[in-house]
Amino acid sequence: DWSMSDFVSEAKSAIKEMVGHRVVIGAVSGGVDSTVAAVLMKEAVGDQFHGFLVDNGVMRKNEAVEVMDRLANRCGVNLQLVDASEKFLDRLTGVSEPEKKRKIIGNTFIECFEKEASKLNADFLLQGTLYPDVIESISHKGPSATIKTHHNVGGLPDHMKLKLIEPLRFLFKDEVRALGLELGIERESIFRHPFPGPGLAIRILGDITTKRLKILQEADSIFLHELRVHNLYNEIGQAFAVLLPVKAVGVMGDKRTYEEVITLRAVKTSDYMTADWFDLPTPMLRKTSARIVNEVPGVNRVTYDITSKPPGTIEWE
Ligand code: XMP
Repeated sequence: DWSMSDFVSEAKSAIKEMVGHRVVIGAVSGGVDSTVAAVLMKEAVGDQFHGFLVDNGVMRKNEAVEVMDRLANRCGVNLQLVDASEKFLDRLTGVSEPEKKRKIIGNTFIECFEKEASKLNADFLLQGTLYPDVIESISHKGPSATIKTHHNVGGLPDHMKLKLIEPLRFLFKDEVRALGLELGIERESIFRHPFPGPGLAIRILGDITTKRLKILQEADSIFLHELRVHNLYNEIGQAFAVLLPVKAVGVMGDKRTYEEVITLRAVKTSDYMTADWFDLPTPMLRKTSARIVNEVPGVNRVTYDITSKPPGTIEWE
């Protein structure tokens, strides 16, 4: 007899009771979990929830603007865009080691979030943690079955003394999607492919420069557009373009070119621990390849990654 609408009303009243008139902050990425958590929080406490979208400069083409439009304009979430792209890109310049990129992005993110969040005098931090992430720490029980509280949130300084709110902590991914639909969030937001926190930084192999970032954003945007147009997006677990650290010789008119190489990745997977490369239809690949080499200056070759996981990983870094 358990239904998602019961879950929503129980979660809302538990959150309201816990928060009272105080302030809740949270980082929002635009992914499924943070989107659903933010909309639930807005439903429960309105503008007492204050979300931050940190633009780290390595998001997909137009992503920051689109997330703001979806969540702030259409869902009414009190969401502030923090444009830290220059700071991130400065620190990423010349870095090619994958784990170094991840560390720089993680640390810079916390720094930017804390700087903005500390202006607000908040008592609570919202996190979109799911059940699989917290199975080990289940012994902690908060005021209701849907909320856990504790102090000293990892990564943020102790002086902020934030209590954690994790309204999704007893849900699996498919339940989070059902909750999102129950909250009226549009399907396109709910059925998005996952996107890694370090963003395009781990898909630009070799030097990260603004020029190479722009190339990857354009190629990736064309690929995802073609997947949607061909009704393939929802059959795929994750799809994206990667910019390789090699150049290839090509020919354009009567001129020889020497330019960047893009590889396309699309996988079918149930849990992202293992994955099969997706057998994309040849006409779709043909169209995507032609569009990328014609429309993205600086690219003269497109390849398709036909490696499963294992032995490959989904990402290239
Ligand atoms: P791999 O490449 O390990 O990826 O097969 C499995 C899933 O994890 C995502 N991924 C990340 N997500 N931070 C994230 O938030 C990361 O550093 C990271 N690395 C990989 C990847 O996109 C895929 O969904």
